[in-house]
Amino acid sequence: MENIRYLELKEAGTLLEQMETLFVLMYDYMGDKGLLQPLVPGGEKMWSKSLLPTLGKFGVVWLALNGEEVIGFIQGMIKLLPNYLGGGKVGIISHVYVKPEMRQYGIGSELAKKLEEWFVTKNIDSIELQVLYHNEKARNFWENTGYEYEVYQMRKFLVGVSE
Ligand SMILES: CC(C)(COP(=O)(O)OP(=O)(O)OC[C@H]1O[C@@H](n2cnc3c(N)ncnc32)[C@H](O)[C@@H]1OP(=O)(O)O)[C@@H](O)C(=O)NCCC(=O)NCCS
Repeated sequence: MENIRYLELKEAGTLLEQMETLFVLMYDYMGDKGLLQPLVPGGEKMWSKSLLPTLGKFGVVWLALNGEEVIGFIQGMIKLLPNYLGGGKVGIISHVYVKPEMRQYGIGSELAKKLEEWFVTKNIDSIELQVLYHNEKARNFWENTGYEYEVYQMRKFLVGVSE
């Protein structure tokens, strides 16, 4: 996988459009792994529109490219803690995806490394992420990348509760 290159997304264009396609695939995959809150139709466009103004400020995306094809991406952002928790900055890994046929070659690890290095340049010393309980592959991946379990997230839909 020596011919894979990594670059930071800077603007709208074909790279972002390819990422939108991967974003939909990622939500399809997460749906199979127990995600209860699905992407709405066209949600990938809403996501990319909200992402663009954050780039170079409190958000970042690293892409993995094979030639001109986007084969993976990782998105991170900076969150400010409330004063009662110290008021510092925390890194958030919000999305990561590598195309199925390109997995197990170290591309996800390299994307995580690029993002962690970016967080270090922003003086961030801890990173949070959420992983689906039933996504064992991703859980293993994050455990092996040095992340520890901290919370369980639970959800209950209220449809029918008041009837
Ligand atoms: C999670 C995900 C991003 C990992 O991407 P990846 O490119 O396969 O990651 P890597 O190749 O760096 O690591 C995957 C495994 O391959 C192993 N590996 C890496 N390079 C390897 C190589 N050259 N030969 C054999 N194995 C290798 C790693 O040790 C790692 O093992 P682990 O599963 O025990 O941790 C990918 O599986 C994915 O896109 N999943 C779907 C979306 C998803 O679940 N996102 C996470 C949401 S929290």
